[in-house]
Amino acid sequence: MSFDFKFSIFGEKLERKGGIVDLMKDLGVALNEQTNMRMMGGGNPASIPEVQSIWRKRTAELLEEKNDFNSALVNYDPPSGNPKFLRAVAKTLNKEYGWNLEPENIAVTSGAQTGFFFLFNILAGEFTNGQQKKILLPLAPEYIGYANQGITQDIFVTHPALIEKKGQNGFKYHVDFDELEVDDKIAAICVSRPTNPSGNVLTDQEINRLSKIARSKGIPLIIDNAYGNPFPGAIYTEANPILDEHIILTLSLSKLGLPGTRTGIIIGPEKIIAAVTAANAVVGLANNNIGQALSLPLIESGELMRLSRDLIKPFYKKRMLNARSHVEEAFGNTIPYRLHESEGAFFLWFWFPELPITTIELYERLKKRDVLVVPGEYFFFGLVDHWNHSHECIRVTFSQSEKIVKEGIQIIADEVSKSYNI
Ligand SMILES: Cc1ncc(COP(=O)(O)O)c(C=O)c1O
Repeated sequence: MSFDFKFSIFGEKLERKGGIVDLMKDLGVALNEQTNMRMMGGGNPASIPEVQSIWRKRTAELLEEKNDFNSALVNYDPPSGNPKFLRAVAKTLNKEYGWNLEPENIAVTSGAQTGFFFLFNILAGEFTNGQQKKILLPLAPEYIGYANQGITQDIFVTHPALIEKKGQNGFKYHVDFDELEVDDKIAAICVSRPTNPSGNVLTDQEINRLSKIARSKGIPLIIDNAYGNPFPGAIYTEANPILDEHIILTLSLSKLGLPGTRTGIIIGPEKIIAAVTAANAVVGLANNNIGQALSLPLIESGELMRLSRDLIKPFYKKRMLNARSHVEEAFGNTIPYRLHESEGAFFLWFWFPELPITTIELYERLKKRDVLVVPGEYFFFGLVDHWNHSHECIRVTFSQSEKIVKEGIQIIADEVSKSYNI
């Protein structure tokens, strides 16, 4: 029997499926059922043996600490997160950066992803006076996971990045400040830093300029720090975190190897944190507390910063450098390509100028050859004008094993070469 159930606007929006739904499905199927697929699509962290052994050791310790373990299992935490965890995060970040955070400035969410859903919909959408407000993304391409998060409508205004070509095969994006218009319809500015997908890291100068603009308009600047400092530290250039009364900073335990615990950390002004806390209570009562329990002593002791600096950062930096040299080898001088500067995160961001096919088509061709990448189109949501560049890029993860990355890049070079009829 099949009923034709009717959905609300929100239901219809979810039903329409977006990039993130397809991406997570492809990823899940490939991880669980297609063992021969080269997984160069998602943002899964690598399994770094030393880091995984730390999490295994912590799990064993937690089992021994009967009181802590029992209370983690049997109790709902307060909706802002476990009080000990909130105090530890505040203390550690204050020590590291000289900030003045109180636990009231911090809320845990079920992954940073859920935190963004709350933040975007708390800040943007329809207001009591009937006004519609939007989130400004000043540097497209931007994180695919934001794209469909508005409850009833598209809530993003996106600005295309300025492209600086570097040498024969490189490029870097910059915020086009001359074109950036922040009127009273903008509810907040948001950037991922390091940027997913491009691996760009906004310079201190760019981030300070965005912060000044947001402050002058009395709106928040949201900085998504899923890959940044002080943890997980997948950042290969100089960049200082900033915090101010109008800044919302988000962190996550996912890229430390704990995506399964779904632990996001939202830092910001008390009014924002109180609203996120209320959203936690309404939507989920409380958060999963296992990630908080596992990481607590490492946050208290500063060990989490050490392992980010000494294990995680060098691991991904090496993977990144190797991946880039595989690209040089596989593409040679005959196949047209440019690679974005790799300043952070886990991705190579390719640009194939004037590619004769869309990257969705390229993605399908690569999938048939057991290589999973993400077509660039998904990262250019919210643009007002059409931009050819949005059909010429793909995101390739380098967090998988050397062998897989090398084979995958070889196959990508081969398919791109065929697409250009070389
Ligand atoms: C830029 C960015 N922000 C947020 C998230 C969400 O992270 P979490 O696993 O904490 O929900 C991701 C996940 O890949 C991401 O890449």
